[in-house]
Amino acid sequence: MKELNVNLTRTTTRLASVIAGLIAFPLPVAFFILVLQFNLAAMNDEAKIRADNLSALISTNPQSWQLDEARLQELIKDLNDTGLPESRRVVDVNGRVIVQSFDSNEYRGPVEALEALDPRNALTIARRSDLMDSGKVVGRFEIMRDVRPLLLETALVSLLGLFLGALVLVVLRVYPLRALKLTLATLAQEKERAEVTLQAIGDAVVTIDGRGTVQSFNPAAERIFGYAAAEVVGQSMKMLMPESFGNAFDSYLRRYPDTGQPYLTGVEREISAQRSDGEVFPVDLRISEFYLYGRRQLIGSMRDVTERKRAQVEILQLNANLEARVEERTAQLKFANEQLRIVTQRLRQLAAHQEGVREAERTRIAHELHDELGGLLTSARFDISRLGQLPGIPASPIEKVRDTVDAAIGSTRAIISDLRPPVIDHLGVWRAIDWYARELANRRGLRRQVVIAPELEDVTPAHDVGICLYRLVQEALNNVVKHAEATSIIVNVRRLPTGLVEVETIDDGKGLSSEDLAKVGRWGVMGMRERVHSHGGELTIESTPGRGTTLRATLRID
Ligand SMILES: Nc1ncnc2c1ncn2[C@@H]1O[C@H](COP(=O)(O)OP(=O)(O)OP(=O)(O)O)[C@@H](O)[C@H]1O
Ligand SMILES: [Mg+2]
Repeated sequence: MKELNVNLTRTTTRLASVIAGLIAFPLPVAFFILVLQFNLAAMNDEAKIRADNLSALISTNPQSWQLDEARLQELIKDLNDTGLPESRRVVDVNGRVIVQSFDSNEYRGPVEALEALDPRNALTIARRSDLMDSGKVVGRFEIMRDVRPLLLETALVSLLGLFLGALVLVVLRVYPLRALKLTLATLAQEKERAEVTLQAIGDAVVTIDGRGTVQSFNPAAERIFGYAAAEVVGQSMKMLMPESFGNAFDSYLRRYPDTGQPYLTGVEREISAQRSDGEVFPVDLRISEFYLYGRRQLIGSMRDVTERKRAQVEILQLNANLEARVEERTAQLKFANEQLRIVTQRLRQLAAHQEGVREAERTRIAHELHDELGGLLTSARFDISRLGQLPGIPASPIEKVRDTVDAAIGSTRAIISDLRPPVIDHLGVWRAIDWYARELANRRGLRRQVVIAPELEDVTPAHDVGICLYRLVQEALNNVVKHAEATSIIVNVRRLPTGLVEVETIDDGKGLSSEDLAKVGRWGVMGMRERVHSHGGELTIESTPGRGTTLRATLRID
């Protein structure tokens, strides 16, 4: 860096000196030549004009023009504004001076100097022109100027040139040099930063030329590959790879100038690299291309991914284990689910069986009540009637007993009807449903609408299905009465296009929530669901708080 600075200073100084010299020396020379040329040209012109004027005077007085000194003086006299001492004279053909005039408006020097002006003098410039008379030369007119003041001025211009040259030298030397030094310092800083980065970077950074020869090898590369930079720089890149990949890489590099296909550059790929001890290990390689002094260079950065690969293998192993465990657990769950399904099915079967048993029991009790208790009560009623017809028996206790027996008969019938609605047997299930809804609505003062689809009129479901449908409507309507605070009930029974029968109860009460259905110790809804399930059907309940409840059961009845 220091050497570069010295060279730079020397070169800049030389360059500035040449430019300063080019300004300092040609300037006075050019000034002198230009002013001299100007003077000579002016003198030439003037000599010609004066000679013409004088020739005109001579032609008017060819014999005695030489004597008309005053007129001659008049013709040669003039103001000179060049600043150079000047002398003009008219000379005859023999070289005799006829008239002479000295003139310099600017000249402040001694008159003798003017008088000494002689065309033969080295410091005098002269121009002359012939005086003619009838085509004959009769004399000449001469102008002479002393160039010493011009030399003095030239010397002053030289000083100015030197000053300007020195100024240019200083400016050219100082400013560009300062800018160059600043640029150099910046470049040096950048280089240092790049070098520090290269040293500090965790990835191996290797630069190779177009033939695969290693140009640089950073400390991380030394650490990862186990080589010192000096061992690798200048060697083929192949030594850092297993043989097969090294050959492939080599042939790519050789083919590249023809194909121009940068298939390795720009993308990151995983390749195998080889350490100095021969261990092959995986690296992520990214190659970038650049040109240094017109020559192709490749810079490859490599990251040792051995640990990552190991972690990946571990993760894969863990995943495989996990999957195996998940599979195992899934199988266990499947088994448990199957068990649960079987248990649920058994429970449902049990529930259906119990329902059947309960219904049978109800029927039996209803029959017993009807045949035994009903029979007894009827005969008691008959006996009481007969007792009332006997003489001497007071009427009022008899009537009291008869009313009590009538009430007992009424209650027994109601119990029998609840246990085993006779209408199912007598009228069929559809009419029984219609009858129950009417009875309940009438008793509770509710508006009601019962629609049994006509196509079902002739369909008689199996006995247990009929009981299921009847109990379903019975519980649903009882719930309306018990909980809904409704003003109307609707019962629809229809056949769906699928062939299933849908029984729907709708009320306009307060509605219910899922919490209501989850209440402990309530069996109504659960019982309905189980009944419907036991016949292969489904039960759904839709409700919006404050806008009633719709209960829908669909099941096959034939
Ligand atoms: N139509 C309805 N409108 C409003 N709430 C209702 C309706 N039907 C049922 N519920 C609510 O759902 C709950 C559960 O009904 P479910 O028939 O299972 O039990 P329950 O009628 O209370 O008792 P039970 O076991 O005697 O039938 C009821 O307690 C009630 O809060
Ligand atoms: Mg209920």
